[in-house]
Amino acid sequence: MKKKLTRIDLQKMKDTGEKVVWVTSYDYWTAQFAEQAGMDMILVGDSLGMCIYGYEGTIPVTMDQCVWHSEAVRRGAPNTFVIGDMPFLSYQVNCDEAVRNAGRFYKEARVDAIKLEGGRRVYPQIKAIAEAGMLVMGHIGLTPQSSGQLGGFKAQGRTAETALELIEDARAIQQAGAFSLLIEAVPPEVCRIIRDELTIPVYSIGAGIEADGQLMIVSDILGIFQAFTAKFVKKYANLGEETLKALKLYAEDVRMKRFPEPQHTYNMIEGELPKLLTLLKREK
Ligand code: KIV
Repeated sequence: MKKKLTRIDLQKMKDTGEKVVWVTSYDYWTAQFAEQAGMDMILVGDSLGMCIYGYEGTIPVTMDQCVWHSEAVRRGAPNTFVIGDMPFLSYQVNCDEAVRNAGRFYKEARVDAIKLEGGRRVYPQIKAIAEAGMLVMGHIGLTPQSSGQLGGFKAQGRTAETALELIEDARAIQQAGAFSLLIEAVPPEVCRIIRDELTIPVYSIGAGIEADGQLMIVSDILGIFQAFTAKFVKKYANLGEETLKALKLYAEDVRMKRFPEPQHTYNMIEGELPKLLTLLKREK
């Protein structure tokens, strides 16, 4: 049986240069496959708003949705380090709400850590959640919950000034007590500077190969998310096309009366059909 990683294992992997590989998952079946494929971690991202619910962004996603999907993932991947993603307005208002909502992920979905977006401005929340005994991952760069302020889903830290802001955010996150940091859509050079400076693991989604590990959205890897494809996405399958093909074949079979065939139906127990016909005759 696969052994679930701990924070200490993840730290050792950074220290020895072993890459961490992780994906998002939102449901029982992809979680099962992620665990079977040997993923080190799974993020139940609030990207479920786009990948599962068809929202345009992550803003409408609720705590209940995140907790329910985390529960399903936990059941599918009992031996993988699972991270719950705190949705918009579940931690921004104050530290008490942040701790209580982080605690819901722990109590109801039995996650191993939570992640929240933002740098220096969420220092108090990261500190409060960590002081309550939970593991917190920071997330900087392209932070989808504040994409309005960022001017859209755009790469971040491409100028010296904005890169320096990110470096200061990263320092604050580590100082607040986060156990790791995720950097999204940032040039690799900036990610490398942060990785070298921080003692905690620094992971990338769209921030280059030098990070301590890589995250990808499962719907992108499988080729089932159709709304848009970010520059940093590599598709490893085209399940979108396969799904469409299968559904069209099924529809055609039904319409042409080719499905179901005898092997897809149940036989009556021997001798029961004549009995039924007799009973029906008597009824008349
Ligand atoms: O919600 C999510 O999947 C995320 C990733 C985009 C980093 O936060």
